Amino acid sequence: MVSISRRMALMATVAIAGFAVTAAMADGLPPLKQKATYKVGFAQTESNNPWRLAQTASMKDEAAKLGWQLVYTDAAGSAAKQVADVNSMIAQGVDAIFLSPREEKPLIPAVMAAKKAGIPLFLIDRSVDPNLAKAGVDYVTFIGSDFLLEGKQAADWLVKKVDGKGIILEIEGSTGSSPANDRKKGFDDVIAQNPGLKIVASQTGNFNRDEGRKTAEALLQAHPEANIIFAHNDEMAIGAISAIEAAGKKPGKDILVVSIDGEKDGLQAIIDGKMGATVECNPKFGPAAYAAAIKYSKGEKIPATMTNTDRFYDASNAAASIADSY
Ligand code: AHR
Repeated sequence: MVSISRRMALMATVAIAGFAVTAAMADGLPPLKQKATYKVGFAQTESNNPWRLAQTASMKDEAAKLGWQLVYTDAAGSAAKQVADVNSMIAQGVDAIFLSPREEKPLIPAVMAAKKAGIPLFLIDRSVDPNLAKAGVDYVTFIGSDFLLEGKQAADWLVKKVDGKGIILEIEGSTGSSPANDRKKGFDDVIAQNPGLKIVASQTGNFNRDEGRKTAEALLQAHPEANIIFAHNDEMAIGAISAIEAAGKKPGKDILVVSIDGEKDGLQAIIDGKMGATVECNPKFGPAAYAAAIKYSKGEKIPATMTNTDRFYDASNAAASIADSY
C-alpha cells in the first residue's frame, strides 16, 4: 500500500513532469527523459566468440541507425572489469545502460550503482540473481532468451533421438552465468526423468571453443563409454567435435552432439553430420533493446521480462538457415 506522503509526492510529480517520469518513479526506477538523441552505454562481457561479435555488431548498428552515441566496453571475460566498465559509463553521464552481465551475482553492484545514479539500466541476454536485484524495481527489464527452455529443448530432442538411452557428458558454460545455470537445470531436469539416460560428468568449458575442446578431451578420456555430449553453446560443441575426432571416434555416429546457439559453424556441423541439433539463442539484440528504451522514455509500461522467440535447428533446416547465421 502506498503511504499518504508518497502518494502526494507521486501526484505532484504528475503535475510537474508528466506521465513518463511518474510511471518510472512509481516503480522506484530512474526515468529516461524524452530527447531527440541519447548517449547510451553497452557493457559487453567478452568478445571471444561469434555470438558475442554478432551481439556487439547488432548493438552498434542500431545505435548508428538511430544516430545515438554509444559508449561500448568489453569486459574481456572479467566480471570485476565489467562492474568497473559500468561505473565508468555512470561517470561519463550516459542516459541509459545496456548490460549483458557476465555472471549472476558479481554484477549486482553495477546494477545497483546505475539505479543509485538515476540511470535506467536494461539487462540484455543474461540476467542477474533475482533474489538480489529485481526487474521493474532495480533495473527496467530483462530482454533475452529463455535459457531454461533451451536446455529442456536440447534434452527433449535427445530423449527422442536415442530412445531414452545413453551416457552423457555435459560441457557447461561460464560458471555463475545465467545461461550456464539455467541451461543446466533445464537439461538435467528432463534427463533425470529418463532412467535410461545418465549424465556421468558435467564440467565447465567457459563458453569458448578451446576450453570446450580441452574439457571434452579430459571427459572423454575419463569416460570412454560416453556416447552423447551436450554442450551449453556451439563454440564448445565445435571444440568437443575436435576432441572426439582426436580420440579416433566419429562425431554424430559414435558420439552424438547437441548444443545451443545456432552460429554458422554450428549449423555447418549439422550439415556435415557431426552435430545432431542446436537450439537457437539469437544474439541480435539491437532493435529490441533500443526500442525498449524509446518506449520507456515515453512512459509506456515495459514488461519486467521480454522473452525472445528462438528457433530449433537440426538436419531438416540447417542448410536453409545457414545464410542468415553469423
Ligand atoms: O549468454 C548467451 C551465451 O553467451 C551464448 O550461448 C554464448 O555463445 C555466449 O557466450
